[in-house]
Amino acid sequence: MPEILLKAEGIYKSYDDDNGGSPLQVLENVNLEIAKGTITSIIGSSGSGKSTLLHILGGLDKPNKGSVFWGNKDISSMNPDDLAGFRNKNIGFVFQFHHLLPEFTALENIAMPALINGQSIKKASDRALDLMKRFGVADRRFHRPTQLSGGEQQRVSMARALMNNPQLILADEPTGNLDDANTQIILDMLFELRKLDGVSVLLITHEKKIAERSDTTLEIKNGTIG
Ligand SMILES: Nc1ncnc2c1ncn2[C@@H]1O[C@H](COP(=O)(O)OP(=O)(O)OP(=O)(O)O)[C@@H](O)[C@H]1O
Ligand SMILES: [Mg+2]
Repeated sequence: MPEILLKAEGIYKSYDDDNGGSPLQVLENVNLEIAKGTITSIIGSSGSGKSTLLHILGGLDKPNKGSVFWGNKDISSMNPDDLAGFRNKNIGFVFQFHHLLPEFTALENIAMPALINGQSIKKASDRALDLMKRFGVADRRFHRPTQLSGGEQQRVSMARALMNNPQLILADEPTGNLDDANTQIILDMLFELRKLDGVSVLLITHEKKIAERSDTTLEIKNGTIG
C-alpha cells in the first residue's frame, strides 16, 4: 500500500450570504487521499469549489465540518500560528495569479519562505539562486515581479514553492494564464519535481491533457468527489 501523505475526511464548506439569504453550500462530504510521490489533478466546472478545497487541504481556510490529516495530525484543528509554521515547512503553493510580493526582487521572493523560517540570508539566497538556475530564470533575479513575463512569474512562483523542500505542492491552475509553450515548460517542471524531489503534487486544471498525465484525476461535482 502506498504511504498516504494527506487525507481529507467528510469536508463540508459553505459561505454565508452577505445579503441575508441562505448560505451557499460549496463542499459536501468531500473525502480524498493523496499518496506520497503522486500527481493528482482536480477538475470541475467553474465555481464547483476547486479552489475552496485546495485552500482547505493546504490549511489556508477551515472547513465547517470534517478534518484534514497529515499522518495523525489533524491540521484543521491547529491554532493559526502553529498552522502557519506547519504550512511554511510542508506545503508549497502555486497560485493562478502568482501572488509574488511586488516590492521585492524575484530572488527575494523565492528566499522569503526560508527567511520566515529563520534561515540565514546567505543560505536562503544561495538556495534561491540554485532554484532560479534550475528553472532557467537566474538572469532575472534582480527583477521585480512586474518586470517578469507571465511564464517567468510562474517559474519564480514554483521556485518559491520549493524553497523549504515541501512534501506537497498545491497548484491552483498554474498554467491558466500561459501560452502552450510555457504551459508545457511548467508542467514538465511539475512532473520533474516528483521524480527528482519526491514531492507529491495536487493541481487544479481545466485542461484535459494535463489531467491525463497525472496518476489520479478527481472531479468535483455537486460539491463532492464521486
Ligand atoms: N470568500 C467567499 N465568500 C463567498 N463565496 C465564495 C467565497 N469564495 C468562493 N465563493 C463561492 O464558492 C463557489 C466555489 O468557489 P471556488 O473559487 O472554490 O470555485 P472554483 O471551482 O475554484 O472555480 P474556478 O474554476 O472559476 O476558479 C463559487 O460559487 C464562489 O462564488
Ligand atoms: Mg478556482
